[in-house]
Amino acid sequence: MTQEPGDRLAVFVAVELIEPVRRELEAAFDVVFSSDPEPLRALRESDRDFDVLLFALETSMDARTIESLPPGIRALATYSVGTDHIDLEAARRRGLAVFHTPGVLADSVAENAIFLMLGVARRATESIDLIRSRAWSGWSPTQLVGLQLSGRRLGILGMGDIGSRVAHRARALGMTIFYSNRRPLPPDHALFGTAQFCATAEELIADVDVFLLACPSTGETRGIVDASLLSRARSDLILVNIARGDLVVDAALIDALRAGRIRGAGLDVFAGEPDLDPGYFDLPNVFMLPHIGSSTLEARLGMGRILIEGLDAWASGKTAPNRLV
Ligand code: GLV
Repeated sequence: MTQEPGDRLAVFVAVELIEPVRRELEAAFDVVFSSDPEPLRALRESDRDFDVLLFALETSMDARTIESLPPGIRALATYSVGTDHIDLEAARRRGLAVFHTPGVLADSVAENAIFLMLGVARRATESIDLIRSRAWSGWSPTQLVGLQLSGRRLGILGMGDIGSRVAHRARALGMTIFYSNRRPLPPDHALFGTAQFCATAEELIADVDVFLLACPSTGETRGIVDASLLSRARSDLILVNIARGDLVVDAALIDALRAGRIRGAGLDVFAGEPDLDPGYFDLPNVFMLPHIGSSTLEARLGMGRILIEGLDAWASGKTAPNRLV
């Protein structure tokens, strides 16, 4: 599409954003920030026309929702890199352009992956509980003995942008990298050097000490961590999920953690967020975070800027690298 020069895009924002991102959006477009608990209803009932709907993961943009959007909406902009909450096919059918936020949050999420690995390896949940409950009675050589990551094998399922950046950091910690992807990557990767390719998730989990989920949630990957996959893991395995909760069959993981068939899990994402399986709450070998992988100032600003750039490019008839549809 091409806007007339001087015309500003009208953008309806259905997600809460931090102040600097709101300011940058306001400087770029005519923006309405909805404070309605049901922003899509407010959008449908608004007497103004909007070109763009900006939203995030908590809004399920399924086919029905897409079909019920006001006719003026010509683009969807999700404040996320993941797009499993959007029916892209339905958006394509309705002729909508769709934008997301690749790249800009990858360092933030990769750092969080390392945090989760270390959190499990160093028994962060038990340590924090001990000190905060005021039950700590002093240093002891037997207390909360963890593992170091140095010398261990990291297996990454989904060696995309985020996976590669985790591998780069894990190498600096002295880990050896294994991965599984649709296709092997060229040897001697610029970010992390050489890594061992495994053709399947089954092979990968059997070979490593830390198993990291960094792949998108698709028909192929949903539920991939099930009892059968976990039965191939070593008893010392640390499982880390920075991708999507529905990659994991919770009952199978909770069972394996409870029975000590794997060492622990570091989880930033959960099926059915925020209503995670209550079975996780009492497991001392689980280090859990409330989906904060991209929650850094740098990533949040980058996510706003890449959407502004993409929408600006689209409005002036140029191609945008973060346009999906
Ligand atoms: C967060 O999970 C995202 O997809 O941006």
